[in-house]
Amino acid sequence: GLAAARASLERLVLDVHDFPEPGIVFKDITPLLADHDAFRTVIEALASAGRDADGNVVVDKVAGMEARGFILAAPVALALGIGFVPVRKVGKLPRETHAVSFALEYGEATLELHRDAVAPGDRVLMVDDVLATGGTVRATRELIEACGATAHAVAVLMELGFLPGRETIGDLSVTTLMTV
Ligand code: PRP
Repeated sequence: GLAAARASLERLVLDVHDFPEPGIVFKDITPLLADHDAFRTVIEALASAGRDADGNVVVDKVAGMEARGFILAAPVALALGIGFVPVRKVGKLPRETHAVSFALEYGEATLELHRDAVAPGDRVLMVDDVLATGGTVRATRELIEACGATAHAVAVLMELGFLPGRETIGDLSVTTLMTV
């Protein structure tokens, strides 16, 4: 359950000081991914964001955001018995896409989604490792809505509580396993 997933994160997400720059504490999830029991527990906890109280799956697709989001979103999709769709950095998807650009601390980022990745009316669960400023989730939601689908919820391993991620993403339902 959720408590076991949280305990796994506490134990297996490592703080790396001064990476990638002095003053930054990087959260390294690779020990968690390398531990089968912990990884499976965490995937099940994230997948619960796509189920109702009776355990029924209430979403049609799982969207993962490049790159670390892919590692989590793909097994969540398999756990729910539904398909996975990649939200990629600009220039990587080969067919017709929707594109959304958003501001970073320095510069701008663009994310893309294949136009036919989700169908009109689909409910989509977004899965990523970290919710920081919320820019990535907000852009992903816009991509999903550009396809005529609905962003049902977002599930992340970690939320940086000192950043305004929740304000940025508005009324979206958020499942977080750890708040930093
Ligand atoms: C990180 C992280 C999230 C995003 C969160 O991705 O994996 O996708 O930032 O930040 P935000 O809430 O401020 O948008 P990054 O762009 O570093 O890409 P990566 O996963 O390819 O390393």
